[in-house]
Amino acid sequence: MKFQTCSGLRGEVTVPGDKSISHRSIMFGSLAKGTTEITHFLEGADCLSTISCFQKMGVSIERSGSHVLVHGQGMRGLKKPDSVLDCGNSGTTTRLISGILAAQDFSVTLTGDASIQKRPMKRIMTPLLQMGANIRSIHDNGCAPLAITGSRLHGIHYQSPVASAQVKSAILLAGLYAEGETRVTEPYVSRNHTELMLRSFGADVRTEDTTAIIQPAKELYAQEIEVPGDISSAAFFLAAGLMIPGSEILLKHVGINPTRAGMLEVCREMGGDVTLLDETSSGEPTADILVRSSSLHGVTIGGSIIPTLIDELPMIAAMACFAEGDTVIRDAAELKVKESNRIDVMVRNLTAMGADVEETEDGMIIHGGKPLHGAVIDSRLDHRIAMTFAVTGCMADGVTEVLDAECVNISYPEFYRDLARLMK
Ligand code: S3P
Repeated sequence: MKFQTCSGLRGEVTVPGDKSISHRSIMFGSLAKGTTEITHFLEGADCLSTISCFQKMGVSIERSGSHVLVHGQGMRGLKKPDSVLDCGNSGTTTRLISGILAAQDFSVTLTGDASIQKRPMKRIMTPLLQMGANIRSIHDNGCAPLAITGSRLHGIHYQSPVASAQVKSAILLAGLYAEGETRVTEPYVSRNHTELMLRSFGADVRTEDTTAIIQPAKELYAQEIEVPGDISSAAFFLAAGLMIPGSEILLKHVGINPTRAGMLEVCREMGGDVTLLDETSSGEPTADILVRSSSLHGVTIGGSIIPTLIDELPMIAAMACFAEGDTVIRDAAELKVKESNRIDVMVRNLTAMGADVEETEDGMIIHGGKPLHGAVIDSRLDHRIAMTFAVTGCMADGVTEVLDAECVNISYPEFYRDLARLMK
């Protein structure tokens, strides 16, 4: 796909449903008693991988576009699949499902695409093994494919070395089936969608500071779930609206859960004109977000805010190129183990466009204010990198070509159409 300098983006966008919440709605709906009805479900490839894994385990799931009915089988109702469970490109599917599978009464093999087979799975294997799970990396390299044989689990108090909602959720899901209480303490609080949604399904989950605590459950109960717009998808239009002169964009019904909304804070700190309208506060809070082009300045981003904007950092890094002064991103080494090494891929691609960026051990430093020019961008099949450079291409001189641009199907299949509509 090719992109070139454009003048202001104007109009409204309803971004697709939140990816994290969509995954969880299928998983918890499958384990619940009764039919869970989901609206504004994300029809991206990652969430479709989750649907197909649970269908293979005997769950009847009917989907018509973004409307989904999950006919739950109860906590003990999953069946041994006939073949390997393929999680595609989805780390959330792989890690969360492992916590569930660790406690079933059958064996499975879990795998995924080339990227998934390189991503670290020891981070979930270690705590699950401590809980009594039988889980192993088939090639003994700490990555998928994973062989899991369900076993009897017991609760633990796990001190997680990383702030990761995928790790926390895998442990909490195993904890649903374990004997005794399970606790996970994180260095910083990661997204809490699992805790919020499990509670609505009837589980006894609570939090104390950076610790999530779950009691074993006998049953979960089906729910109606309206998935809010994904702030990680809205992030591309937030940045575009701020950076591209003459822009005014209204992003409708976006999830603004505080454990996810760090980018809003950073945009404001950078001098961005961002207004929240029509805020709701029950369950997963949402708002319409109005963004207008602004002159931006550099900031330092690190510490506890990092997990709340981890997936938005590529876009924030590119936006920082158009801000005055330096932006420092630190404590973000987790970026190296996402769908691609997002520190390396950002530094290389931004440098190719003429930006002044330095890679650091746990982040990067962007010296803003240098004009960017078009370049050929290797997305490394990473959806967030492709979208970041589509937007950045709209601010660069000349033509920017994004390779493997169709990888946006993972989280935002309509992204290019929505972007083009705002250009008119
Ligand atoms: C996710 C958690 C985050 C995030 C990912 C989705 C989730 O990963 O980057 O896109 O749904 O729990 P980590 O748990 O590895 O930080």
